[in-house]
Amino acid sequence: MDFLDSHILTLDTTEVPGIDNLHCPEGAVLEAQKLAAEAFGSEHCFFLVNGTTAGIYAMILAVTSPGDKIIIPRNCHRSVYGAAIWGRLTPVYIDPEVDDDLGIAMGIRPEHIEYILQKHPDAKAVVITNPTYYGVCSDLERIAEVVHRHGKVLLVDEAHGAHFGFNDRLPVSAMQAGADVTAQSIHKTLASMTQSSMLQVKSRQVDIGKLKFFLQLTQTTSPSHVLLATLDIARDLMEREGKALLDKAIDWSSQAREAINGIPGLYCLGHDRIGRSGIFDIDPTRLTVYFGAAGLTGSEADQRLRDEFKIQVEMSDLYNIVAITTIGDEEEDYRRFVRALTDMAQDFGGTVPPVKGPKAGLPVPESACMPWEAVYLEKECVPVEACIGRIAGEMVIPYPPGIPVLMPGEVITPESMDYVKQCRASGIKINGTADATLQYMTVLKNSKI
Ligand SMILES: Cc1ncc(COP(=O)(O)O)c(C=O)c1O
Repeated sequence: MDFLDSHILTLDTTEVPGIDNLHCPEGAVLEAQKLAAEAFGSEHCFFLVNGTTAGIYAMILAVTSPGDKIIIPRNCHRSVYGAAIWGRLTPVYIDPEVDDDLGIAMGIRPEHIEYILQKHPDAKAVVITNPTYYGVCSDLERIAEVVHRHGKVLLVDEAHGAHFGFNDRLPVSAMQAGADVTAQSIHKTLASMTQSSMLQVKSRQVDIGKLKFFLQLTQTTSPSHVLLATLDIARDLMEREGKALLDKAIDWSSQAREAINGIPGLYCLGHDRIGRSGIFDIDPTRLTVYFGAAGLTGSEADQRLRDEFKIQVEMSDLYNIVAITTIGDEEEDYRRFVRALTDMAQDFGGTVPPVKGPKAGLPVPESACMPWEAVYLEKECVPVEACIGRIAGEMVIPYPPGIPVLMPGEVITPESMDYVKQCRASGIKINGTADATLQYMTVLKNSKI
């Protein structure tokens, strides 16, 4: 509390004279945003205090009108779905490729975008998640070329890639690739506080006035200047020392990857997988470790790392753990991580069968109404056995691979229920449903196809 009192609380001001206003900046905030635009290679930068989530809402709403089609990855972040609901948009889904060995959704090929744009020439924009949570990148430069050739806008969810533009050994950043707008969680991979993000724009197709309007709608009117200041600090640090700091992070994470790949039973996702499953590039700083062959689930590995070795990873799924390494990690942190995995491996192998779930790849179900319409319709909970032929009132997302089997408004088929049952039987978590045990599902009232 003393630390908070002396350091942070004294800085916790809002718009008083001499301190700028995020919503119509003229002083320090404007200057900091200009410096950030230069550093991140954009024409306009907007600081965000409601996370990348607010930026994703604003960028999608700014380039669409109600009723428009928008092309989005089926496994996009919930904020993209949120924007489609708010904007009353018609989502057209791109299915990411799935790596059946690792059980997770990977990249999206430019050819796939070309095909979808030919089928939906009336779509307004394309959203791409780059990199994915697992550190996988699509060929963003070619995707930008395809999207622009069709006269559409390319919006990138770069929540996990804010560091890309600061070192040539990292994948190309959205701004370098030619995207129109990108939303970046500076708080995830750079040195700013939680909730602080940036929206970068370099485009002749985006109406900046409309974008500013939606940023006002999606952000608080009492922005924290502490958060804003940390965005400026993060930019300054990257400009002065970013390349050198990232060189170290890339060297250490690459050494850790090599060591992990030497541990029997483990596989750490790396450049060797490029070319498969839509993988164009890999963020070397992200350590995604596959445990399936070790007879241990990712969630069990996550818990053992926390309980036995006091190491907290970012997330885990049935097969993998994802460790985010950043410029804040020291060489010893990487060594400790590898030592912990080496110690854990003493118990691997033997008679334990590999972890295996069902293969992903269900077709997108027929849509009875738009997700935004389903939000406003009456719903009821019914036992899962009675769901077939009903219209989903909630998302059903097996994780992994994180691709929704059902979205609100979609018709529940025997195949989708069968797949969900198989997922549950193999220990895959189902996200999005009100009843986590999935004995009941939320469906639209009186719906029966
Ligand atoms: C892929 C992706 N996009 C967007 C977001 C939202 O970012 P924020 O937490 O900064 O709002 C997240 C958050 O985890 C994410 O993983």
